[in-house]
This record gives sequence, C-alpha cells and structure tokens, in this order.
Amino acid sequence: MTNTRLYIEGGRKISGEIRVHGAKNSVLPILAATFLGAGEFKLSNCPALSDVFSATKILGSLGCKCRRTADILEVDSRTVTDCEIPEQLMREMRSSIVFLGAILGRLRRCRLSFPGGCELGPRPIDIHIAGLKKLGAKIIEDHGVLDCTLPETVTGAVITLPLPSVGATENIMLAAVKGTGQTVIQNAAREPEISDLAGFLNACGANISGQGSSTVVIKGVERLHGAEYPIMPDRIVAATWLGAAAITGGEVMLSGVRPEDMHSSLSVFEQMNLSVYPYSDRVYISAKKPLCAVKTVRTSPYPGFPTDCQPIVMAVLSVARGTSVIVENIFENRFRAAPELCRLGADIKAEGKVAVIEGVPRLSGAQLVATDLRAGAALILGGLAAEGTTTVSNVHYIDRGYESVEETLRSLGAKIKRI
Ligand code: UD1
Repeated sequence: MTNTRLYIEGGRKISGEIRVHGAKNSVLPILAATFLGAGEFKLSNCPALSDVFSATKILGSLGCKCRRTADILEVDSRTVTDCEIPEQLMREMRSSIVFLGAILGRLRRCRLSFPGGCELGPRPIDIHIAGLKKLGAKIIEDHGVLDCTLPETVTGAVITLPLPSVGATENIMLAAVKGTGQTVIQNAAREPEISDLAGFLNACGANISGQGSSTVVIKGVERLHGAEYPIMPDRIVAATWLGAAAITGGEVMLSGVRPEDMHSSLSVFEQMNLSVYPYSDRVYISAKKPLCAVKTVRTSPYPGFPTDCQPIVMAVLSVARGTSVIVENIFENRFRAAPELCRLGADIKAEGKVAVIEGVPRLSGAQLVATDLRAGAALILGGLAAEGTTTVSNVHYIDRGYESVEETLRSLGAKIKRI
C-alpha cells in the first residue's frame, strides 16, 4: 500500500468537463445513520472511497449487510449483532466516532476505542461527550475504551456547543432522533453535510428542523424506517478540480455540483483573477489571465472558507503573482503540504496558524510525500503545474477522499499514472 505512488508529467493544461462524485463527509455520517434507522436503505451518488469501504466494514462488524452496485450502496440494518466497534476499525478512520451517536441511539449502549490523534493533530471529542451527557448518556473511559449508555427514553435537552463542531453536531443529532422530547443544539455546525444528514434522517421519518442554521431542533420520534437517498456532491473535490484548472492555466466545467455550497471557495478563486461562472448545478472556471495573490485567506466554520480547501488553495497561490497570507483557524497541523510544495520550488513560510506564500513564476518536478488527504491533493496540483516529473507517495491518503484520482485527471488531459 505504502509503495504506491502517483507519477505525474507536469506542464499540461487541465481542461474538460467532469462530474463530481458524492461527498465523503456526507456519506460517512449517513452510513452511520443507516444503523440507527433499522431498515433497508439505498444511497445513490455514493462515492467509491476507501473511507466509505471502512464505514461499510464497521457496519458489517455490527451485523449489517452492505451491497454496492455502481454508485448505489444498499444497507440492510434490520438485524444487528453488536454494539462494539473493533479497535482496528476505529484506527482505520478517525471519523468513525460518528457511529457513537448512531449506535447509542439504536441500542442504547456502545463501546468503542477513543479515537486519539490523527494527521491533522489532536482530534478531541470533548464536545461530543459533553453533548451526549446532556442527553442523559453515561460515559466511562477505561484504558482508552469508551463505554457509553443512553437511557431508554431520551426526553430532550438544550445543548449549546462551545464551538460549532461538525462531528459533535452529527453525533448529538443521531443520538437524539429517537425519543419523546425535543433537543435543541445551539451554535450547531452549519455545514451543508449537516443538512444532508438531516435530510436523510427526515426521509427515514425523523423530525429535524433548523439544519443549515446555528440552531438545530430535533423532535424525538418513536421509530425510523428505510429510505432511498442521493448523497450530496463533494464540494471539496469540486474545489480540487477547479484548483487543478487554475494552477495549470486551463479551464474546466464541473457538473453535478451545488455552487451555492461553495460560495467562499469560489470567491477566493475569483480574487485570484480566474473567471468563475456558477450555474444551477455546474461551475465553469477558466484561467486565461495570470493568477494574482490573495491578501488573506482565513479558514473558518461554514459558511467561511473551508479548512479542507486550504492546502489546495495554497498550491494554487504558490504560482500566483504577489504575496498571499493564509490563516488556518481550525486544525493545528494543516500546513503539511507547505514543505513538500517548497520541494517543487514554491516559496512558502508557515509558522503556527499563518503561512506566507510568495508566488513564484514556475515549479519544477520533485519526489513528494503526501502527509494527509488534502495535503496529498495539493501535491498532485503542484505536480500538474511543475515542469518535469513529480512523484507523490502515500497515495492511500488521497484514496480516502478522491475516487480514481488519476483516471479523473487523465480524462482532463493530465499525464498521470499510478505505479
Ligand atoms: C469534519 C470533517 C473534516 C473537516 C472538519 C472541519 C468529516 C468526516 N470531517 O471533521 O473534513 O476538516 O469537519 O470542517 O466530516 N474540536 C474540539 N472538541 C471536539 C470536537 C472538535 O476541540 O469535541 C475541535 C477540533 O479539534 C477542530 C475543530 O473543533 O479544531 C473543528 O472540528 P470538527 O468540526 O469537529 O471537525 P470534524 O467533525 O472532526
């Protein structure tokens, strides 16, 4: 797995039309929600990603049946056998913590190992735990294992999050859906993926309102039922392909996207002097003029600029004329693309939360190591723009969030292969 590399012959324009696949950050909590639902589910626009495979392994270990045909994933969660997630599956994917709310919501008991840190730095779950406790959960931590129980009937609570954590909002929603009372989450995350989870749960018979705003209201229902549901498009993957066109001076038309979810990233591309045209379910971008620096890009919770797009924009800004500044406000360890981009000749100084990028006229090929999913995507973008050959190792990080990355880019004119 670790020997696999992407081999890129750079300097070719990325241009053409591409359909964007379903969102990783939406399908993962929705897969957890199928467990809560106890029925038969059919998810369409479901991306074939290694993280999705990990989530189906968790469902399988809990006794559910999963079957994929093309982009349709069917889950039968009527019979379950377990309330415990094996430790190696928790390690495989940190975001499996979202199964906690779903398992508790269905079985009223869940055991899983503490997720610990990840490539992006510490991944605390204190806000998840405090929220679930407000719903009445009892949580005991013993040698890194969390043993959680939830009362048979959840009578509701008002939970104010200290910060709008995406995962904590999802876990509380999942644990509160079945019950008798009303739960209000204040300062909830507003990400479109939260609205997609609420949309799925409502399609299964839940009563959730306010999703997309900072106050989410969950009125408890007695039971849920099976449903068919299309996964929303991946706005981070969409921004990656826009970045690929931008950094190579090309043009792309994305289809199957929701431009209204991408306002802050589209606005940063516009500030770089790119022509950006959003249509109802498409976005066209063209890099006919020289790229220019952006004074400051600050990551913040939705609707602010997404932290997941930050490394991608960093790669593009590395060849934009002038000095750009990026302030990373969400994760501690999210400038790991910077030293690798510097190996291509970029001029980036990153310290603490701030990175200063002096645009250079050109990049040249080098051997690079992906350190996490989005940093990996940023290195591919650097390689596409660089003269000569670039290799990117640790491709397994990239496969967590991009379906057949090299095939997609080849269809847009890139010379890239997996070796
Ligand atoms: C989700 C996304 C991830 C994205 C992130 C921020 C998924 C599978 N992952 O991650 O791609 O980068 O949102 O948009 O959807 N925090 C705490 N205590 C907690 C929970 C979070 O301090 O209990 C902190 C985190 O350390 C981080 C910040 O809050 O600094 C945001 O984290 P959160 O919104 O929870 O991100 P995730 O749900 O983990």
